[in-house]
Amino acid sequence: MTVPTTTLPSGEAVPVLGQGTWFMGEDDRERGAEADALRLGLDLGLTLIDTAEMYGDGGAEEVVGEAIAGRRDGVFLVNKVLPQNASRRGTVAACERSLRRMGTDRIDLYLLHWRGGHPLAETVAAFEELQAAGKIRRWGVSNLDPRDMEELVRVPGGEACATDQVLYNLTRRGIEFDLQPWCRRRGIPIMAYSPIEQGRMLNHPELRRVAGRHGATPAQVGLAWLLRQEGVIAIPKASSPGHVRENRAALDLRLTEQDLADLDRAFPPPRRAQPLEML
Ligand SMILES: NC(=O)c1ccc[n+]([C@@H]2O[C@H](COP(=O)([O-])OP(=O)(O)OC[C@H]3O[C@@H](n4cnc5c(N)ncnc54)[C@H](OP(=O)(O)O)[C@@H]3O)[C@@H](O)[C@H]2O)c1
Repeated sequence: MTVPTTTLPSGEAVPVLGQGTWFMGEDDRERGAEADALRLGLDLGLTLIDTAEMYGDGGAEEVVGEAIAGRRDGVFLVNKVLPQNASRRGTVAACERSLRRMGTDRIDLYLLHWRGGHPLAETVAAFEELQAAGKIRRWGVSNLDPRDMEELVRVPGGEACATDQVLYNLTRRGIEFDLQPWCRRRGIPIMAYSPIEQGRMLNHPELRRVAGRHGATPAQVGLAWLLRQEGVIAIPKASSPGHVRENRAALDLRLTEQDLADLDRAFPPPRRAQPLEML
């Protein structure tokens, strides 16, 4: 069940396909099924789980805690601090609350969810403190554009940033113009969130046509299109077992030159810099 990996700047290998958790933990009646879906994903090798203190106001972290209970060592856990909490003290306190909700003693990769009012230098200092205490193993950011990233790598310790998690899918290709090449030059993988545009892109006729040629689904084509690229980690969220299996199988789909050309015509790459899009 080995899933291909990509490398963080530290040299650590992480799976290129993981599992998202936004909207999990919001409805108590769904929690059992959501944890089951995450466990199925873990069984299938999707061992990177992405969550955040924001999701379900901590509820998603509790679902994650349920899913990883008894198997923590086999999981690469990504979590995010809200910008309003991302002060020197606030980051540490937020991390400790998140650890409690997930029932674990460490986060593998802790991200600033998006840029807010607290100076980046303060957040990075808090990340370093958490690292020294063994509460997080690495840190990164989310929703930072190239200008923010330039600023980040100039603050003390900023060069250690392990990823930028951003909105990236066939319908949101803006980062290909600047952010993605910037990250590539520095060996920083991009973590592509909403990789199937929360389902909104799945009825696109070209996507359906390409999928039909392979006996695959449009979601699988969208994921395979991301996963063919070096240095891209996709984190689709699936709370139904069928979707989990389907997403795992996207790793076996190889798109042809013809597929890629057809997809480029339907979803053109950017010709100029665009503001970073967020959901
Ligand atoms: N850093 C950030 O600011 C940020 C922002 C957005 C998202 N994220 C992270 O990225 C993760 C993924 O993004 P997302 O949840 O926004 O959107 P997404 O993964 O693009 O789409 C999730 C939706 O697609 C459905 N789905 C999953 N697999 C499918 C398949 N094979 N066929 C058809 N439908 C399928 C899911 O349904 P079911 O659940 O019913 O299976 C769910 O409704 C999030 O969960 C979160 O962890 C981060």
